Amino acid sequence: MIGPKAYIHLDRLIHNYRIIRQHLGGSPVMAVVKANGYGHGAVACTKALEKEGCGFFAVFTFDEALELRQAGIQSDIIIFSRMQKEFLAEAIDQNVILNMSGQNDFELLNEFYSKSGESPIFHLKIDTGMSRLGIPFEDAGRVLTTLSENPQLKCEGIYSHFATADEGELDYAEWQLEQFNLVLSLADEMGIDFKYRHFSNSGAVLNLPNSKFDIVRIGMILYGAFPSDEVPMNIDIKPVMEFRGPIVETRRIKAGTKVSYGGVWASPKDTTIGVIQTGFADGFPRPWYDGGHVIYKGKHYSIAGRVCMDQLMVDFSDDNVTVGDEVLLFGENGKDSLHMEEISQHIQTTPYVLATSIHGRTERIYLK
Ligand SMILES: Cc1ncc(COP(=O)(O)O)c(C=O)c1O
Repeated sequence: MIGPKAYIHLDRLIHNYRIIRQHLGGSPVMAVVKANGYGHGAVACTKALEKEGCGFFAVFTFDEALELRQAGIQSDIIIFSRMQKEFLAEAIDQNVILNMSGQNDFELLNEFYSKSGESPIFHLKIDTGMSRLGIPFEDAGRVLTTLSENPQLKCEGIYSHFATADEGELDYAEWQLEQFNLVLSLADEMGIDFKYRHFSNSGAVLNLPNSKFDIVRIGMILYGAFPSDEVPMNIDIKPVMEFRGPIVETRRIKAGTKVSYGGVWASPKDTTIGVIQTGFADGFPRPWYDGGHVIYKGKHYSIAGRVCMDQLMVDFSDDNVTVGDEVLLFGENGKDSLHMEEISQHIQTTPYVLATSIHGRTERIYLK
């Protein structure tokens, strides 16, 4: 079908997984495959990683976990979103791990236990400074006491999440880590043993090597992009997604001709304009028209005028262009590379936003 294509290089995903494990000295990895595997396709990425030996996956919603189970994924799956009463029975049926992040989750679980005699497995989330989900640090002692008084509830893990691990200034992240270590010491004193303690994300893998604990949660760097430009980029990760769009039309225009909405771009000289069938509705970053470019046959060409919903235009100058060929929008192919990091820096967003925006009509093609 004609339209944008996301070529997903599963071999690069596995390469990244191996490189990261090596960097971590072999620590186990919890692969974060929420939001459709950061736009890369959750099922295909999870299957490839599971085959490689990764045994733990994280998603955000219950439906995302069900999608993986229905696709035959056997490994552990944790759900990061808020625990809901409606999931409890199915979490047990589907063997999915829940997130305990509020005091009243105990009430939910105990009410369920009193009716069913069962408890889903869950991990306890401590808020050490993200101020999103999680038991506030100040309440950790009380919650650990409740946990030790309720051995019928199956808590297998304890974790927290960094707010600033991918920044150059790490004081706040280090303070969060101290808070987490205090909670772990308290749990130790109380004789509470967790199968898994986890904290690291991609930024922490690169910036805070002493936050590995028992398993390391990783999203962005698995997909081959650095979370920010403030982390040491000392691991050889490769972009998993190669996003391409087809040239569907070319036309010669005269110098001074305006191109696209608003007429904000006019050609400085007579030129060939190519129409690429990819637009912001497919996830192409709209602000990237200003200073943005694409790659065709090894050369960079400027985007001409505003990106439209379904199409964008490229200034091919006087070069030969074949309708039906594809241009590289971002990613890597042989010597051609245009990284999400470069685009996101230019338009002041992040690779997380770029990758997860790839959706809609974009066809994913999995390459082994
Ligand atoms: C709780 C949690 N852990 C880990 C991650 C993975 O983060 P990253 O993609 O930076 O590795 C995320 C992603 O947002 C998250 O929400």
